[in-house]
Amino acid sequence: MSSPQQRGERVQGDSAATSPISSVSSMSGQRIVIVGGRRLEGVIPISGSKNAAVALMAGAILAAEGKTTLRNVPRISDIQTLADVLRHLGVTVSFSDDHRTATIDATRLVTHEAPAELVARMRASFWVLGPVLARLKRARIPQPGGCNIGARAIDLHIKGVEALGAKVEVGYGAVTAEAPGGLKGTSIYLDLPSVGATMNIMMAAALAEGTTIIENAAQEPDVEDLGNLLLAMGANISGHGTGMITIEGVSSLHGADYSVMPDRIEAGTYACMAAITGGDVLLQGANAAHLRPVLMKMAEAGIRTEEPEGGVRILGAQTRLRATRVIASPHPGFPTDVQQPFTAVLSLAEGTSVITDTVYESRFRYLTEMAKMGAKVDVEGRTAVITGVDRLTGSDVEATDLRAGAALIVAALAAEGRSRVFHTEHVERGYEGIVEKLSALGATIWREDENGRRVGGEALSLCA
Ligand code: UD1
Repeated sequence: MSSPQQRGERVQGDSAATSPISSVSSMSGQRIVIVGGRRLEGVIPISGSKNAAVALMAGAILAAEGKTTLRNVPRISDIQTLADVLRHLGVTVSFSDDHRTATIDATRLVTHEAPAELVARMRASFWVLGPVLARLKRARIPQPGGCNIGARAIDLHIKGVEALGAKVEVGYGAVTAEAPGGLKGTSIYLDLPSVGATMNIMMAAALAEGTTIIENAAQEPDVEDLGNLLLAMGANISGHGTGMITIEGVSSLHGADYSVMPDRIEAGTYACMAAITGGDVLLQGANAAHLRPVLMKMAEAGIRTEEPEGGVRILGAQTRLRATRVIASPHPGFPTDVQQPFTAVLSLAEGTSVITDTVYESRFRYLTEMAKMGAKVDVEGRTAVITGVDRLTGSDVEATDLRAGAALIVAALAAEGRSRVFHTEHVERGYEGIVEKLSALGATIWREDENGRRVGGEALSLCA
């Protein structure tokens, strides 16, 4: 059954305006509790990029010789999931005591099949298709899982490895690719600049015979980071970070020492949190160039930003923000992963904002939850119309996916009273120590277990 948003109906959260907490019996699992209204102030360290780190871990599979050391890895559960996928393939993965450095030894890659239960947990597990195929000449990778934010097809990944000469079969819940004679370089045009497909093709082509050119490639900084790791491993690649990537295949790759880039999505999310509370927060380590589309839209909404060396400072306005128009699109457009947190900010702006997400067809489900907090929202297809309200109120809400959960925390930080965001296991997948980081900035926030007991410490149970 479609949600009111999917049917284009108006959803409005006036029930939350009269009752501080709506009772939602279906909500369970881990939760984060927030008492809104505290201005965020201080310095927040930005972690290594989740999306880059998982791609770099997959890239490390390509090294037949030597170990790859990845520094500045975020302490999040997605990293542990991918480490387990790699271990299943015969790759050794270990972490430093602080879990910020991963050492990956893929010299004994033996298994070409990835485990379904792990791949189902996160879409990026599917990024191992290209490197495993390139190393072992065959790969069997289950269909990926991850956040439920649209169709999230894999046709371009398949088209890419087929163009490189692999025979591909899809069936029984998995993609099987074989290239007994090895992969051959070619020209590939992507119908859409898919981040994952670009990465998978780059990794496969790095060990292919001859030259591969990817046109209409994804230009996201994460793709550029992967290209830079591959260069450090001995690959011959250029144009990564632009729409045309050229890869001259080499016969083998070796390990490298590489530091993961800062997480632009985490930085963008905390920028929204600072903005909605009228705060003053330095995003330490954030790369302003990666955040340009977000910072430009923030300026339009009346949020001041500064770019001191080594970070970005967000100065939230003391007066009401202004409505604006946002079109989420592939990089260098406004990032779809910041669309949700920024929409939460606009829910309190003066006037009507129009948000279009051209990347995913159903990334507005969280607005049903925001409506419980008093947001005024209309959704028609890929466009949401947000009529700014002058206050949000605390409520019980559910994180339907990773960035949706982050958006609800943004809203809850500004809402009057107490909110409980349920199913925050989605959020902890991608945001390192979010409760600790927000507490350090002055937020009133804590975690509760499924029995409603307050729990301390990071939600991620770190294992070696
Ligand atoms: C990556 C990011 C995700 C981000 C997205 C877009 C990771 C782990 N995830 O996801 O956080 O939101 O980029 O910036 O890095 N598509 C197809 N066929 C394909 C592949 C994709 O039609 O074979 C479509 C998807 O359904 C989607 C769009 O292309 O509508 C963009 O997807 P893509 O760029 O591939 O996103 P991911 O790499 O999955």
